[in-house]
Amino acid sequence: MGKALEGVKILDMTHVQSGPTCTQLLAWFGADVIKVERPGVGDATRGQLRDIPDVDSLYFTMLNHNKRSVTLNTKEEKGKEIFVRLIKECDVMVENFAPGALDRMGFGWERIQELNPRMIFASVKGFGPGPYAECKVYENVAQCAGGSASTTGHLGGVPLVTGAQIGDSGTGLHLALGIVTALFHRTVSGKGQRVECAMQDSVLNLCRVKLRDQQRLQHGPLEEYSQFGEGVPFGDATPRAGNDSGGGQPGRILKCKGWETDPDAYTYFITQAAVWKNICDVIGKPEWKEDPDFAKPADRLPRLNQVFGAIEDWTMTKTKFEVMAICNPLNIPVGPILSMKEIAEDESLRTTGTVVDVAHPERGNYLTVGNPIKLSDSPSDVVRSPLLGEHTDEILKGVLGMTDEEVAQAKEVGAV
Ligand code: COA
Repeated sequence: MGKALEGVKILDMTHVQSGPTCTQLLAWFGADVIKVERPGVGDATRGQLRDIPDVDSLYFTMLNHNKRSVTLNTKEEKGKEIFVRLIKECDVMVENFAPGALDRMGFGWERIQELNPRMIFASVKGFGPGPYAECKVYENVAQCAGGSASTTGHLGGVPLVTGAQIGDSGTGLHLALGIVTALFHRTVSGKGQRVECAMQDSVLNLCRVKLRDQQRLQHGPLEEYSQFGEGVPFGDATPRAGNDSGGGQPGRILKCKGWETDPDAYTYFITQAAVWKNICDVIGKPEWKEDPDFAKPADRLPRLNQVFGAIEDWTMTKTKFEVMAICNPLNIPVGPILSMKEIAEDESLRTTGTVVDVAHPERGNYLTVGNPIKLSDSPSDVVRSPLLGEHTDEILKGVLGMTDEEVAQAKEVGAV
């Protein structure tokens, strides 16, 4: 069975995390992703957070699977010539340079369109048009500017960033969808188009429930937030809500057996209204099923501390996996807090290809996250990341039809 994006050629000018996440997804689906890197330098992440001297970092390897690497100096004359030929050959160009970098290189959108009207040109920037358009942006800046940090953390505490890379990987995901949408549209229009994703916008899109709450605040307190039951008045902006669930079914993180010594001995517990009676039975509070203070969801909202206190008295007598085993058959939504160690060792995630063991010629075996999007008819495998310039000759000859002599000349002048 063929891969879904087989035949699509991607000119990958991305670096660090946001852009590479996007092109890695496209590569998993079978696109030929040609990663362009500066000769002798490469993507800066090859050398960042290294765990083994002189070997590509896990930061790099885990974001650049299934790609081919070509070295090319796009600021050198001969390099520019080769770059023009690559632009003419490819379907999609993806970049996440600082604002203006491609224009300075001489390859703005107008030029790219002239060279290849069918080209889909996709970019990640920190901010969209406006006062911050020229800023360089990294993950946590986007989390802060996109509304995530102000709504994450505990009431009265400092704003917090999250471990999930919603600014970088989140924007990469958005961009990949923009690219396949533009590819689909091209089948009708015959033309390429520009796809732009700002990290601030992507983070905000993922935080849209908090903008929902901002508007609800104008009509009264947010009753499902714990601070409502605690009598803490609301201010004029969506507050930080600790581990309160973001939806209409109150939930919290609760201690489980062993929490005193194990930092991850916790469970998330959701008091879904539909199974309230099951919850009352499990935690040994059958009388709450009919008690007017607890029977209905609205009755419980001012008493969430009492409700979760009682549930926690029960969860503390069980391990997080026992809580899961008892609650699941009763349809009570719970989830163990899994450490990265537990995830790395989870056999079921290996079976589905979500966690994959990859062999690398320089670092040996390492673990990575496989494609989380599974298509029934289009397989997706994980191929190790390329070494710097590993496919330079192959691409210059195979994609551009350059002769051995031309390749040697390009090397001589430092173009590749
Ligand atoms: N040949 C020659 N020059 C190259 C090249 C190549 N193959 N590839 C890159 N360069 C040059 C660029 O043209 C640029 O040169 P210039 O500044 O002289 O115009 C330079 O390398 C560095 O690019 P830049 O993007 O400014 O890198 P940086 O390390 O200074 O900044 C970021 C990194 C991530 C902050 C910045 O790229 C950015 O803000 N990107 C957009 C938002 C983003 O994606 N952020 C998240 C990253 S995970």
